[in-house]
Amino acid sequence: MRGENHTLLILFLLLLLSNFNFVKSSNSSEVAFTPPDNYLIDCGSSQDTKLDDGRIFKSDSSSRSYLETNVEVEVSVDSILVNTTSNSSSPSSASALLLYRSARILTSDSKYSVHVSSPGWHWVRLYFYPLPHLKYNLTSAVFSVTTGDEFVLLHEFSVRETTSVVFKEYLLNVTSETFSLIFKPNQQSYAFINAIEIVSAPDSLLSDSASTVPQGGTFSGLFNYAFEVCYRLNVGGPIINTPMAEHDTEYNAFPQGVQNASVSPSAIKYPQHGANTYIAPRLVYASADQMADSDTESQNFNLTWEMSVDPEFSYLIRTHFCDIVSKSLNDIYFNVYINGLIGVSSLDLSSINNALSTAYYMDFVLNASSIQNGTVVVQVGPTTTVQSGQPNAILNGLEVIKISNKLGSLDGLLGAKGHKE
Ligand SMILES: *[C@@H]1O[C@H](CO)[C@@H](O)[C@H](O)[C@H]1NC(C)=O
Ligand SMILES: *[C@@H]1O[C@H](CO)[C@@H](O)[C@H](O)[C@H]1NC(C)=O
Ligand SMILES: *[C@@H]1O[C@H](CO)[C@@H](O)[C@H](O)[C@H]1NC(C)=O
Ligand SMILES: *[C@@H]1O[C@H](CO)[C@@H](O)[C@H](O)[C@H]1NC(C)=O
Ligand SMILES: *[C@@H]1O[C@H](CO)[C@@H](O)[C@H](O)[C@H]1NC(C)=O
Ligand SMILES: *[C@@H]1O[C@H](CO)[C@@H](O)[C@H](O)[C@H]1NC(C)=O
Ligand SMILES: *[C@@H]1O[C@H](CO)[C@@H](O)[C@H](O)[C@H]1NC(C)=O
Ligand SMILES: *[C@@H]1O[C@H](CO)[C@@H](O)[C@H](O)[C@H]1NC(C)=O
Ligand SMILES: *[C@@H]1O[C@H](CO)[C@@H](O)[C@H](O)[C@H]1NC(C)=O
Repeated sequence: MRGENHTLLILFLLLLLSNFNFVKSSNSSEVAFTPPDNYLIDCGSSQDTKLDDGRIFKSDSSSRSYLETNVEVEVSVDSILVNTTSNSSSPSSASALLLYRSARILTSDSKYSVHVSSPGWHWVRLYFYPLPHLKYNLTSAVFSVTTGDEFVLLHEFSVRETTSVVFKEYLLNVTSETFSLIFKPNQQSYAFINAIEIVSAPDSLLSDSASTVPQGGTFSGLFNYAFEVCYRLNVGGPIINTPMAEHDTEYNAFPQGVQNASVSPSAIKYPQHGANTYIAPRLVYASADQMADSDTESQNFNLTWEMSVDPEFSYLIRTHFCDIVSKSLNDIYFNVYINGLIGVSSLDLSSINNALSTAYYMDFVLNASSIQNGTVVVQVGPTTTVQSGQPNAILNGLEVIKISNKLGSLDGLLGAKGHKE
């Protein structure tokens, strides 16, 4: 790994979906959001690192003031050799791999603290890759990460594999003036971190309530929870050879029943209220999976996606829709199911804004009690009771987001203060 001539082995360039909500629009008629808090730290790095999306991660020395720790240990290599296709929970663009080339090793409880200029939603993104070090074997490091007394992000976490990088993405409502990330090594162990992002997100990203499944109820109080993005799929991926198509296929339980559709991203409209470019960029709405032509008027099956999750937690399921397949309004009516429970019945996307090709999203809360076999199952299928054109159903994008438990944990059943549930 230390060889000078090693170049990054990049088998497929993954779309930088971690940046989903910060796609800046050149269209002045659309809201532009500049995050008031924007801390980007390339831990252990001797120099700043610029990614190809333009963002600059500060070197370790210029971010030193954020860290309180006892022992100084850094590690870095010229390049890392990883299989970017092997772990789909670790989306990263080619240039984001640069962030994994260095790390800071934390041999005792350590704290990164930043000043919060604007309270509200913040992305916290953590990058992990166990680099080789003579004294500290990072693949055997075991540690926890909390936000002070409030939320547990990682509990007795370790990265045993050196074949892939680990990327974790959290959404937290930060209400205090100082936000801290505390790294707590297990006894006899140590912690490490390759890069950190703490970045403001627009308030409109998540509202306080969402529909429950089955349909009919409302879950309120999402502001009080912490979230971890587990899956984010650009269904029907727009560009040939993009990995998102593979991601979709990987989770698609009935690929034979699926036909992809896509339009030029510029054809996608955002409504006055609701979806915007921070909720998801045009690229997500410009492609979809729909029912494959079966040459029959009575085709009736569901498109189905299955994703493994930790069944101890409840999930926020964000579904993205945009009718890019109908020729006229009120053409397709379909049902959305989550884990076999009805989320919405007879959805007619064209009636919501009286237009086609318009972005729309719906959030559902799936309670842990409805998760069997550690799987989240999202299905869309045609409504048979409503008269329409050819039966069809579509899905453009899907996010599966873990909701913190009663004790504020996103990993394991202990709270930040160590209480058992
Ligand atoms: C800019 O946004 C408006 C409103 O959403 C849309 O009508 C127009 O086509 C967009 N222009 C470009 C160049 O994307
Ligand atoms: C990378 O991972 C993918 C998916 O697990 C696997 O199919 C492929 O063979 C791996 N490639 C290498 C070079 O290890
Ligand atoms: C990705 O890697 C993490 C950490 O090594 C592991 O927990 C997770 O199961 C992996 N995901 C997949 C889909 O292989
Ligand atoms: C964050 O939480 C505070 C206190 O609970 C609440 O007043 C505020 O509206 C929340 N902000 C967002 C963006 O959720
Ligand atoms: C590092 O730790 C891992 C996991 O405990 C172990 O499998 C590996 O052999 C160790 N490597 C070295 C160089 O000691
Ligand atoms: C769309 O489907 C066609 C035919 O199955 C396939 O060749 C193509 O790769 C798919 N494109 C995407 C973006 O999934
Ligand atoms: C679609 O899925 C729902 C929920 O799992 C199920 O009740 C329904 O029977 C399925 N429809 C078809 C045609 O298989
Ligand atoms: C899940 O259901 C339990 C029991 O009904 C309830 O106490 C809890 O608040 C629910 N959690 C979520 C996130 O819906
Ligand atoms: C869960 O797994 C069991 C055993 O593997 C299987 O019999 C059952 O059908 C599965 N249930 C669901 C809802 O997938």
